Amino acid sequence: MAKLWQTDASARLDPTVESFLSSIVVDSRLVFEDIECSQAHAIMLGEQGIIPRQDASALVDELAKIRKELEADTLSVDQNAEDVHSFLEDELTRRLGDAGKSIHAGRSRNDQVATAFKLHVRNACRATRALAKNALAACLDLAETNIETLMPGYTHLQRAQPVTLAHHVLAWCAGFERDIGRLADAAARADESPLGAGALAGSGLSVDRERTAGLIGFARVSMNTMDAVADRDAAVEYAAAAATLMTHLSRASEDIVLWASSEYGFVSILPTASTGSSIMPQKRNPDPAELIRGKAGRVFGNLQALLVMEKGIPYAYNRDLQEDKALFFEIEEAVNGALGAFAVLVKSLVPNVARMRVALDGGYLEATDVAEYLVKLGVPFRTAYQASKLLVQRCVEENKSLRAIAQIDLEVHEAFGRVGVSAEELVRYLDPQACVARRMQTGGPAPLRVREQIRRLRDWLETES
Ligand code: ARG
Repeated sequence: MAKLWQTDASARLDPTVESFLSSIVVDSRLVFEDIECSQAHAIMLGEQGIIPRQDASALVDELAKIRKELEADTLSVDQNAEDVHSFLEDELTRRLGDAGKSIHAGRSRNDQVATAFKLHVRNACRATRALAKNALAACLDLAETNIETLMPGYTHLQRAQPVTLAHHVLAWCAGFERDIGRLADAAARADESPLGAGALAGSGLSVDRERTAGLIGFARVSMNTMDAVADRDAAVEYAAAAATLMTHLSRASEDIVLWASSEYGFVSILPTASTGSSIMPQKRNPDPAELIRGKAGRVFGNLQALLVMEKGIPYAYNRDLQEDKALFFEIEEAVNGALGAFAVLVKSLVPNVARMRVALDGGYLEATDVAEYLVKLGVPFRTAYQASKLLVQRCVEENKSLRAIAQIDLEVHEAFGRVGVSAEELVRYLDPQACVARRMQTGGPAPLRVREQIRRLRDWLETES
């Protein structure tokens, strides 16, 4: 097939090079965006008197027909075309003759591809944000029903202090909230039209960039025509937001993998989001969680590839930039797929409240509270810490839990005697539920505070458009 840019029929590309350069397999996905942008361009050309008005409306109508035929599958994008932009111009020319040939006045494939892709990126920011909101809402449902579900919180994967399942899940939500904000920021910055930038220097024709931007639904035009065709930072920004989101999804998934293991036994996963083993009938595997973790690597890799692809390119357009789309679509697919699966996974979790409660025993998770109890009675923290440490050591030696203190000689450290600690009162103080309930700081695990966090996030989800 002759290329749009071909002037001499005898000077053909080597077929190997031709197939190497072709991007049609990848950029066919931009066909609807390109139709939208081309319609705006045609309308503007007509209004500006650059082409006859009847040619402009013929172009707009024919593009609408092409859209319908593609949607109805009576037309498919010709995979022999160089790219989706060539395909559309060829198709218009085949159908409309000279009117078809007039569509490319005042534009270049450089601003054409930048515009269709930017529109796609802006819309992808919005779509991924909606999916992230959905995943966050699923987490809030899980939190809501587990405000009183006690469990150990961990640092260094060692049992540290009692928290609740709701508090832990809200930690995931806090990350997702920022991710959703990042995607909103990225969408707002991507909301500018490169169209009319031409190859790099605009056009000598009276192209109206503001008009095409308005018709496509962009908030504004990009402010420099060379930047408009040369930069892909909107894609990088989406990719970076997606990569950060994937770290959050991956870490939450890792929590779920641990919780679903026999060693923890904190949750089971309904068959909607767990798989069986082909050989071991007793198993239920957390495959969706593992694949989310796995997909994170692909997203990070593609972000890196996008950055490296762009870094050495002299201004303005160079063909390297064609790589942006394959990398981007892969990121988009991975993150959207992961978000959808994660929401179902979270809905499929069945907490084992008893197992979590038992995990609070025997690990001396209340040791900090012993020290804080002494602090409240006026003992300096470091002395109180030493006293608590000795008490824990004694409990370990005697194979007793901290709440069996009544049977232990509290004189283990003089601090206990000095302030006259009553073992009975201390035992009440160390009840895990009490430990959680008095952690009343903003953002803390106390049920009251957790309810506030849930309510705030629900309100935010509703108002966040
Ligand atoms: N397929 C190309 C891309 O995605 C379209 C732009 C080609 N422009 C050019 N001057 N060769 O980047």
